[in-house]
Amino acid sequence: MLSTTPFDKTAAYKKLKTHHKTISQKDIKTLFEEDPDRFKKFSIRLGDIVLDYSKNRINSRTRSYLVQLAEESGLADAIEQMFSGGKINATEGRAVLHTALRNRSNTPVEVDGKDVMPDINEVLEKMKDFSGRVRSGNWKGYTGKEITDIVNIGIGGSDLGPVMVTEALKAYGKKGLNVHFVSNVDGTHIAETLKPLDPETTLFMIASKTFTTQETMANAVSARDWFLEKANDQEQVKKHFVAISTNRTEVEKFGIDPENMFGFWDWVGGRYSLWSAIGLSIACFVGFQNFEQLLAGAHDMDKHFRTTKFERNIPVILALLGVWYNNFFNAQSHAILPYDQYMHRFAAYFQQGDMESNGKYVGRDGQPVDYQTGPVIWGEPGTNGQHAFYQLIHQGTKLIPCDFIAPATSHNPLGDHHKMLLSNFFAQTEALMNGKTYDQAKAELEAAGKKKEEIDFLTPFKVFTGNKPTNSILVKKITPKVLGSLIAMYEHKIFVQGIIWNIFSFDQWGVELGKQLANNIYPELQNDWPVTSHDSSTNGLINQYKRWR
Ligand code: F6P
Repeated sequence: MLSTTPFDKTAAYKKLKTHHKTISQKDIKTLFEEDPDRFKKFSIRLGDIVLDYSKNRINSRTRSYLVQLAEESGLADAIEQMFSGGKINATEGRAVLHTALRNRSNTPVEVDGKDVMPDINEVLEKMKDFSGRVRSGNWKGYTGKEITDIVNIGIGGSDLGPVMVTEALKAYGKKGLNVHFVSNVDGTHIAETLKPLDPETTLFMIASKTFTTQETMANAVSARDWFLEKANDQEQVKKHFVAISTNRTEVEKFGIDPENMFGFWDWVGGRYSLWSAIGLSIACFVGFQNFEQLLAGAHDMDKHFRTTKFERNIPVILALLGVWYNNFFNAQSHAILPYDQYMHRFAAYFQQGDMESNGKYVGRDGQPVDYQTGPVIWGEPGTNGQHAFYQLIHQGTKLIPCDFIAPATSHNPLGDHHKMLLSNFFAQTEALMNGKTYDQAKAELEAAGKKKEEIDFLTPFKVFTGNKPTNSILVKKITPKVLGSLIAMYEHKIFVQGIIWNIFSFDQWGVELGKQLANNIYPELQNDWPVTSHDSSTNGLINQYKRWR
């Protein structure tokens, strides 16, 4: 059982409320003037990752109150419960053990008295064997040809993780083996994906924890029809379809050979499942050794998270800073800005990871909370974001805390590109902190030879208030291991925030509602009769659709 202390009833919360009044009078620039040692005090290194959180609206006192908040929330106990298989996903009665999937130490982890590691290792072995056969060309299609294209069909956690990781690790991908991802039930997605593909050399991975998700099953059926149109032999399905699921009965019903099923377990949450067999497309694309490195990187972060005191604990610090802005500065959102093109789906991945986990208004005590919980997560890779939405971060009216992420080394060291990219990475956080004063803006216009009238008019628009908080996460290189650590870092950040906000982070009843509603309307679209069973807006829209289709 997790504690049910409402976050705003803790002693630390009260201290932070008062402290906020003092700290909000100061800007980050002044904090640096007062303490030139901030980088040393407010940065943490873990292997090939450095987190610099000195450009935040905090001092040592803020950090100690935030740490106290974590302690009062029962975080230490919650971490132990998660790692040791406690049923902390209480509304679904499940343990939360994505950490066991990457437990490279192989120490026993028990659920209901049974060690889960042997099952995990068995599936990993099966993934190793299968990915090896696909990559070497030993796995043949129905006409004896090698597989050239893998199509992963899944949605949400059964899609976003593999998409994000295969993109982030494209530099490690096998030449001649392409991965594709179909998620949307919009027929365009599968139709456009299949257009250039050949059924003889295409392998489908149907990835669905439940194997009942409407979008995935519709796409899987269309993929099978497409395949059979050419192969014209049901027997050959087994050479071109594998399933990744917890639901053996439905997999068999679909016609997939149980031999070609890769299992996982109910204690793996969808949005935390890329470490399980859901990562099969990753293992095939980058090779099993690299997949193991991804797991190893996550395991390193797990050990750090489980054993490091909160002041030096990267996920805990990131979480506490998020709480600081979300609940004391009323920030509504949080931007994740990777300065690495390969990581272009990273923010999208954590949109699900964070918003599906912490988008909750009911506390663990069953009562509505009366404070803000999870923020809106968004972001795009730098420098594209700079030419799109950074204007609002610099000069808008909203406070948007940002994480800037960059590798010191590029996989594509082309001319001076990487130096240019990183000069933007360094410059942006500095500019967001320092801003530009009225006098500085005026002096620039004077130096440009502008007339007095023009200077008077233009200067106010060129002022930047600065004082915008950022974290910088500098890594050596985006390797499978580093990526694994970064993903685990954000997973644990989300976990810590859920504990502090006293909510359940591992269910998703809001999404379940959407599924139910669509299933109610679907039968009404099967005929041309006008509907009257809804409100006038929904009736009007459905009936117009029926007239136009
Ligand atoms: O989006 C809701 C959700 O339940 C996610 O948690 C999950 O990742 C996704 O649907 C897909 O579910 P499944 O893997 O069962 O098809």
